[in-house]
Amino acid sequence: MRRRLAAGNWKMNGTAASLSEVEKLLEAHLSPNVEILLCPPATLIAQLAAKKGQHPLMVGGQDCHAAASGAHTGDISAEQLKDAGATYVIVGHSERRTNHGETDEQVAAKARAAHAAGLTAVICIGETLAEREAGQTLDVVGRQLDASVPDAATGQTTVIAYEPVWAIGTGLTPTNEQIGEVHDFMRSRLSARFGADAAFFRLLYGGSVKASNAVEIFAIPDVDGALVGGASLKAADFSPIVQALEQAAESELP
Ligand code: 13P
Repeated sequence: MRRRLAAGNWKMNGTAASLSEVEKLLEAHLSPNVEILLCPPATLIAQLAAKKGQHPLMVGGQDCHAAASGAHTGDISAEQLKDAGATYVIVGHSERRTNHGETDEQVAAKARAAHAAGLTAVICIGETLAEREAGQTLDVVGRQLDASVPDAATGQTTVIAYEPVWAIGTGLTPTNEQIGEVHDFMRSRLSARFGADAAFFRLLYGGSVKASNAVEIFAIPDVDGALVGGASLKAADFSPIVQALEQAAESELP
């Protein structure tokens, strides 16, 4: 029902030379059961789209402006990402929320802009360490999910990434039970709002995913894939993660 998704977020890393890593990925992965998405810096989107050619790998942006065009120096619209060859865009990453003060309302506006341009939005949510330690994880995740996901979102146009802020780039990960608890909670919350369509939203886990923990994370119910930062930069690190997801998907086939 949900095609599993291995997504790589290169953040502010990579130059044209980094595209050689993509060649290795393209050669290694063609499984129809798993979708692969790479979100390089905006400077590389068009080159990556050209390089992948007919390969089913998807290309995405890391952020977009809520407006379709206008006087916003340095920003990029969803339309422009689409024009460069992207079909996805990440919105509401915690690094945007923290470093650029983005609110849930702004994130929802960006997701609406992505949808209007025909892009699938990967909407990121997640609690800080202080919030987890205060027992507020589900409150925070629920609030962000409600306010960051537009009413018109569907499982076809929207992917949700649960990225606990304290797990990003730290090598720390929640326990499998903690990940399972949040993913189960997100699915229920989406069901309450979107009814039967909730079953089509893919829920990714993100935060220090690597080859050594991917197999167990992908075995958690309602984890439909991963949003990977550091370990997506090199094919040698990302490929085993994609492979773990391919195996998880195959084990579910009838
Ligand atoms: P790391 O995989 O480097 O922890 O980053 C996760 C992330 O923020 C992906 O968007």
